[in-house]
Amino acid sequence: MQSLVIEGGRRLCGEIQIQGAKNSALPLLAAAILGQGETTFTNCPLLTDIYAACRILSYLGCKCKIDGNTVSADTSNLVNFEVPDDLMREMRSSIIFLGAILGRLGECRLSFPGGCELGPRPIDIHLSALRKMGVTIKEEYGMLDCRVEKELSGAKINLPFPSVGATENIMLAAVLAKGQTEIKNAAREPEITDLAKYLNLCGAKIYGAGESTITIEGVDFLHGCQYEVMPDRIAAITYLCAGAITGGEINLAKVCPEHIDAVIPVLEEMGCHLYSYADNIYINAPKRLKPVKIIRTMPYPAFPTDAQAIVSAVLCKAKGTSIIVENIFENRYKHVGELLKMGADIKTEGKVAIIQGVNKLYGTTVCATDLRGGAALVIAGLAAEGKTEVTNIKHIDRGYESIEKVLSFTGAKIERK
Ligand code: UD1
Repeated sequence: MQSLVIEGGRRLCGEIQIQGAKNSALPLLAAAILGQGETTFTNCPLLTDIYAACRILSYLGCKCKIDGNTVSADTSNLVNFEVPDDLMREMRSSIIFLGAILGRLGECRLSFPGGCELGPRPIDIHLSALRKMGVTIKEEYGMLDCRVEKELSGAKINLPFPSVGATENIMLAAVLAKGQTEIKNAAREPEITDLAKYLNLCGAKIYGAGESTITIEGVDFLHGCQYEVMPDRIAAITYLCAGAITGGEINLAKVCPEHIDAVIPVLEEMGCHLYSYADNIYINAPKRLKPVKIIRTMPYPAFPTDAQAIVSAVLCKAKGTSIIVENIFENRYKHVGELLKMGADIKTEGKVAIIQGVNKLYGTTVCATDLRGGAALVIAGLAAEGKTEVTNIKHIDRGYESIEKVLSFTGAKIERK
């Protein structure tokens, strides 16, 4: 099992190029199934979750090729409609293949994704929407057997919660469906807009992505195309936090500043100076950070749940008390126990975490419990006194392309062991 070893206490300075977005690349790779022919994605991050998605595509019959950050998929010969259990388990978000396989083949069999590190991960919203579109779904022995009985047909769908995955699955199923689909209370995350842009380039007719009502006019055929994956907003936030906690000065290149609009005021409240221009964001952090009154995670465009653990780690070293309310996932404070081992002072109760900033964090061995929780430990380690070893980094590798190399460029002492 690999780990990351960090010698904390160095001020980070320099420039970081932000990777392509994992949460965009995954639905895009699934969407490639819908177009007949070859699709090429550039700026695709090289991550274990992306390799897992490529293995699923290959199993289905696609010819997949990875060349640096370019991933191409030739979907001319799709032969399988089943995703085997071992591939489903490799990546929780593989449920995103459901809408695409149904759209292309009218049939799909896969295992139920079950729970994950963040608590129960239900898919009831996905399934009830697909049923409305004419899909019969049988759930037995942990498997989902989905079949389009007559034809996939457009429907009016009102989501009880703006679920990102459900919005993506409905869009994927709707582009080749008969007639019009309307999604009300749709997720507005930038990854939804990226998916719509790609599908529209392939010939789809999706209107309103990024707003709460999305309308999709079904078409008969989609072709492949070349598409550049958007920048990863959570990786960008992570590296801004690395700058913040080390009192550093970092310029991020290849980012979409507007995607992190909800986080910039929080870093400013901590006393950091931020400046964005074109596709760059610059941060200059003070020696001692200030606390933040309250952060509430909410669907986009509000503060993202994926940034919660990472920003919490930074607040551990602020001078004063900060409050966090996690509204999206039930079990997203697992990293807190590990931060406590490093000398942090955090109390959690249900959705709420109260962080009392400390003067010093101390290096020790801590275990990554999930992707963003793991990144939070790396951030804390950068500012801790002495050596921090973060174990179980398979979680971190699911979302960050060579995190140790990126941080080393800005002067961090961090290596993979
Ligand atoms: C996506 C992101 C994840 C991010 C999350 C919220 C990917 C691969 N993952 O996950 O990083 O943290 O959005 O921004 O893009 N829910 C239900 N029933 C459903 C679906 C969701 O109850 O059928 C609940 C979930 O349990 C959760 C909330 O809705 O409490 C948000 O989930 P959702 O927006 O669907 O997140 P994901 O798409 O799984």
